[in-house]
Amino acid sequence: MRNTGIPSLKKTFETACFGLNWPNKLFVAVLLLILCASVHGGSAKYVVGFSQATTTEPWRLLFNKELRVEASRYPEIELLVRNGMDNISKQIADMDEFIDRQVDVILISPKVADALTPVVNKAVDRGIPVIVLDRDLNNDRYTQFIGGDNNMIGRAAGEYAVGLLGGTGKAKGNIVEIWGGMASTPARDRHDGFHRVIAREPGITSLLGPADGDWKQDIGYEIMAEALEAHPVIDLVYAHNDPMAFGAYLAAKDVGREEDILFLGIDAIPAEGIKWVNEGKLTATFVYQTPGAEGIRQALKLLNGESINPRITLPTQTIDAGNAEQILRDNRIVK
Ligand code: FRU
Repeated sequence: MRNTGIPSLKKTFETACFGLNWPNKLFVAVLLLILCASVHGGSAKYVVGFSQATTTEPWRLLFNKELRVEASRYPEIELLVRNGMDNISKQIADMDEFIDRQVDVILISPKVADALTPVVNKAVDRGIPVIVLDRDLNNDRYTQFIGGDNNMIGRAAGEYAVGLLGGTGKAKGNIVEIWGGMASTPARDRHDGFHRVIAREPGITSLLGPADGDWKQDIGYEIMAEALEAHPVIDLVYAHNDPMAFGAYLAAKDVGREEDILFLGIDAIPAEGIKWVNEGKLTATFVYQTPGAEGIRQALKLLNGESINPRITLPTQTIDAGNAEQILRDNRIVK
């Protein structure tokens, strides 16, 4: 629970009232109470700290927006948001700030697993409940994990790729895989799930060794530009998120090869991946819901003393030419 600041309030009151008569003392007391209420955010009872890894990709901005909108529905919550700016040291410092302030619950979407696990353990050791969102850690000493099943999404992408390249047992083609940040669990799981499916297809060749695109469109572009220079035939690109798939598409377009290649991504946010599918730039993308709103709902349950599940898995969906336009219409992105 928050520090009420009562002793310091009493001291301020005594100092402010020194030498005043009672009607004036009363006036000062009312003023102080009003000031106190506005500084402490009115009726907020709980402080929730949210440590976001980065806000570089639009998916992260949507994540923050959904989290903030949900939090704004509960006046009992005061939300503190910190942006790790894609920098591990900054994200650790943000977590330390929450620990020092003794917030009531921490939500964190860690940039990477290894480097962020110790500071989450530290929070747990200091008695602060932690809910981990989207990217996982090296152990599960935290209270809860909320995120998509990235291995399953990888498998769905693998099956989709096999279907595009000729079907089970007959698939043929050269594939470029562009990894997300290799030190993060979604990238590893998206690779493992995909690889498990395509490894059963002797006609499929994976052209590159592990290529880390760090989830960024510009790095996806560069990896693809090099792959295009080295390989005269590329049939399909599987990128671990839509920005990198789009970067790869742009690299292929710049050398006039985009029509020869199929592009698969992950995230499927309407204004980005689904729009690119609808425009025929990506062939398909797989929904990776943000855990923002659910994170707040679970934090509130916890603060209200209810028990919460150790793991919540968010659902996915395949988006391709068959459903992209309808979803854009539902989201009022196209008419
Ligand atoms: C954004 C992002 C998403 C991806 C997720 C994985 O930072 O790269 O595009 O799906 O993180 O953690």
